Amino acid sequence: MAKMNFGGVEENVVTRDEFSLEKAREILKDETIAIIGYGVQGPGQALNLRDNGFNVIVGQRQPSKSWDKAINDGFVPGETLFSIEEAADKGTIIQYLLSDAAQISQWETLKKYLTPGKALYFSHGFGITYKERTGIIPPEDVDVILVAPKGSGTSLRRMFVAGRGLNSSYAIFQDATGRAFDRVVALGIGIGSGYLFETNFKKEVYSDLTGERGTLMGAIQGIFEAQYNELRKRGHSPSEAFNETVEELTQSLMPLVAENGMDWMYANCSTTAQRGALDWKNKFRDAVAPVFKELYDEVASGNEAQRSIDTNSQADYREKLEEELREVRESEMWQAGKAVRSLRPENA
Ligand SMILES: NC(=O)c1ccc[n+]([C@@H]2O[C@H](COP(=O)([O-])OP(=O)(O)OC[C@H]3O[C@@H](n4cnc5c(N)ncnc54)[C@H](OP(=O)(O)O)[C@@H]3O)[C@@H](O)[C@H]2O)c1
Repeated sequence: MAKMNFGGVEENVVTRDEFSLEKAREILKDETIAIIGYGVQGPGQALNLRDNGFNVIVGQRQPSKSWDKAINDGFVPGETLFSIEEAADKGTIIQYLLSDAAQISQWETLKKYLTPGKALYFSHGFGITYKERTGIIPPEDVDVILVAPKGSGTSLRRMFVAGRGLNSSYAIFQDATGRAFDRVVALGIGIGSGYLFETNFKKEVYSDLTGERGTLMGAIQGIFEAQYNELRKRGHSPSEAFNETVEELTQSLMPLVAENGMDWMYANCSTTAQRGALDWKNKFRDAVAPVFKELYDEVASGNEAQRSIDTNSQADYREKLEEELREVRESEMWQAGKAVRSLRPENA
């Protein structure tokens, strides 16, 4: 573990330099890693671990497209691909990567296989942090650990294949064997993380729920809509409004911010743009700060978690979701987006 300075604050981080893949393989050489659930995170983590030389099996219900996908990815029924129960029985490390709602409904089944000395691994702090609501209460004689990649399972895999790594947080909720740290860090390195930063289950879930509802997904679409609607009301064409709201951001500016930071981007745009951005950013910050406060309060009180447990477990959740997504997809802004994408030279 190394100390690293993040803008004046010291944090514990782990990188492949001081915790090598060879070391991770040595620590996990006698373990069978059972990936339970082959949805989005399941494939990313299973394939990276397998390619890195770890002993991986998959547990997936069937019939299911996810079962077929596991076969397409080279997992063999009866050898490395099993029912959830069989894989959980064989695994010494159980990576519980069902959707958060399914983790609740399948818990009684899974619990039976958590025999002393095994490790129960999550990629989200949800089930454990809100355990009074989810009922996920592990036995005391197993390790309970977390590695949460900061991005989609698809990105985890793509970046691994490209020789890069997605950052992940790691946490230990319960260290029954005295090996929880070695196990969790070895798994974090094994799944192809960039660097690993330390957290706990509660902080992981609070920051994750805030982030996805906030700048990563919720707030960003809200801001897109507000600006696009205003430009359209003032007589700008869909093409102009979409380019000024979304296309320029995703295609031109965010890759530069990712490479060099916001100050560099401000320094390298026109003086008119730079002056306006610097003058208006605080107004936007102050306008949305109360919404972020409300959001964090709702997350910390458990209300957000309860809302997702209640809605995600409804039988018609998928249909209602499809209806909501259809509204977004068919909105003028995203229809304009579709047209703009089709006109990109690489797609034309
Ligand atoms: N999405 C991400 O990239 C991401 C990023 C970081 C962390 N995480 C965390 O990783 C975990 C897995 O998330 P995910 O997005 O990969 O989930 P997901 O894609 O929704 O995975 C669903 C998995 O759960 C199975 N499943 C769903 N309902 C089931 C049921 N009733 N009984 C048995 N199996 C059922 C699915 O099988 P079928 O295909 O047969 O339905 C599939 O294998 C979650 O804790 C999530 O918070 C996810």
